[in-house]
Amino acid sequence: MSQRGNGGIIFVSSVGAYVGGPYNANYIASKAFLLNLGTALHVELKPKGVDVLVLSPGPTRTEMVDAVGVDFSKVPMNWMKAGTVAAAGLRALGHKSMLVPGGINKKMVTMMTRFMPRQMALSMFGSMMSKTMDPSLL
Ligand SMILES: NC(=O)c1ccc[n+]([C@@H]2O[C@H](COP(=O)([O-])OP(=O)(O)OC[C@H]3O[C@@H](n4cnc5c(N)ncnc54)[C@H](OP(=O)(O)O)[C@@H]3O)[C@@H](O)[C@H]2O)c1
Repeated sequence: MSQRGNGGIIFVSSVGAYVGGPYNANYIASKAFLLNLGTALHVELKPKGVDVLVLSPGPTRTEMVDAVGVDFSKVPMNWMKAGTVAAAGLRALGHKSMLVPGGINKKMVTMMTRFMPRQMALSMFGSMMSKTMDPSLL
């Protein structure tokens, strides 16, 4: 892409990348890696005509979530549609280095990273995460 002078890459991270992820530590750590990798590549590749975006969705209704067997009645979160998340990512590519899709998700990340002590944000996020998991795994 950099040789031909154009292209675009979207890394799919997660809102958890901004906070940290008790009960899903390895997964969320990999998402934090992507957030750092993608935002750095955004700077490196912009002068070469390649757009890079880190898309960090919150809860999104997908096959993965269905396969894990989330009980939606116990997890009253703002579940976004996969198509809405993907469309927001495509719109932002070329304009931003990172995007948290959805107003509620944006507010949650801002609140947890700017207005809350880190330990409090971690316990809150961990409590949400644990509700989406099979109790036998906790
Ligand atoms: N769902 C959420 O709440 C949520 C929240 C934050 C971030 N995310 C992130 O969003 C991304 C998509 O997740 P999802 O929820 O849409 O999961 P999903 O429904 O399980 O979809 C995963 C997709 O990845 C493809 N895939 C898996 N392994 C692959 C491989 N080795 N090579 C190429 N393609 C591969 C699958 O293709 P096949 O169907 O052909 O196997 C499938 O299309 C993931 O990075 C996930 O971490 C999801």
